[in-house]
Amino acid sequence: MQTGRTVIITGASQGIGATIANSFLDRGYNVVATSRRVTQTSEIKSSEKLVRVDGDIADPATAQRVVDAALAGFGRIDALVNNAGIFVAKPFLDYTLEDYRRLASTNLEGFIHLTQLAVRQMLKQKSGGSIVSITTPLVNHPIAGLNASVAMATKGGIEAMSKNIALEYAKDGIRVNTVAPGVVDTPLHKDNPRDFLNTLSPMPGISAPQEIADAVLFLTEAPRITGEVLNVDGGAHFGKW
Ligand SMILES: NC(=O)c1ccc[n+]([C@@H]2O[C@H](COP(=O)([O-])OP(=O)(O)OC[C@H]3O[C@@H](n4cnc5c(N)ncnc54)[C@H](OP(=O)(O)O)[C@@H]3O)[C@@H](O)[C@H]2O)c1
Repeated sequence: MQTGRTVIITGASQGIGATIANSFLDRGYNVVATSRRVTQTSEIKSSEKLVRVDGDIADPATAQRVVDAALAGFGRIDALVNNAGIFVAKPFLDYTLEDYRRLASTNLEGFIHLTQLAVRQMLKQKSGGSIVSITTPLVNHPIAGLNASVAMATKGGIEAMSKNIALEYAKDGIRVNTVAPGVVDTPLHKDNPRDFLNTLSPMPGISAPQEIADAVLFLTEAPRITGEVLNVDGGAHFGKW
């Protein structure tokens, strides 16, 4: 199906983000894909509906360049997918201030810079919009042995902001949701043993990136869903099994 809608996707060079970018292209969207090295990846299919913008999401200047590219290329912004993120797992006592700052600048500040600019543009367009961000069920349901407290402060912050922004702009038709994947088969887990990963949800196995992309597409196009967290995690959000 062809549409004239434009979506911005962060962290699009590999893993979940590249799969999301390809899914939106397949659906006929104009796609602005960004990450530090998105111009170098071959994981996103080439398309005249694709614009790539390299940049560190922690830098506010990246958000401005991404929005400028969307408007120059396609004239509008209908949806944003905040997917760029890093994960640092360690015992609480081992986290350093440097860990915190890296997590906060990439995961939280990256979300704030781009979401502010996207919402501002959506308000100007007066036709609503969608923001979907990627978090994790570990925010509310930690798993024994998978220590990630400071990383969860940032992912939890995204969930909290998403719900608050959802309410703030509901009257403007701007919907704000999150997708919370369990373990997904991406380069993020290249050093983690598969046997261990398989134990992290009550349903055996781990997710393919396409499952997450499908959830993001669903929420982007769901006309009256806002402030929601969609767990795609084989039941990991039950919290005990
Ligand atoms: N895989 C999982 O099991 C899982 C589970 C729950 C949640 N998630 C979340 O899902 C999202 C994607 O995860 P993934 O598994 O696809 O991760 P990944 O394979 O490590 O990919 C991360 C993406 O984020 C980009 N990125 C990282 N730091 C960046 C920065 N400072 N500025 C701009 N882009 C940056 C990377 O691109 P560049 O290197 O080109 O910058 C890459 O495209 C993350 O938010 C992650 O926390 C993943």
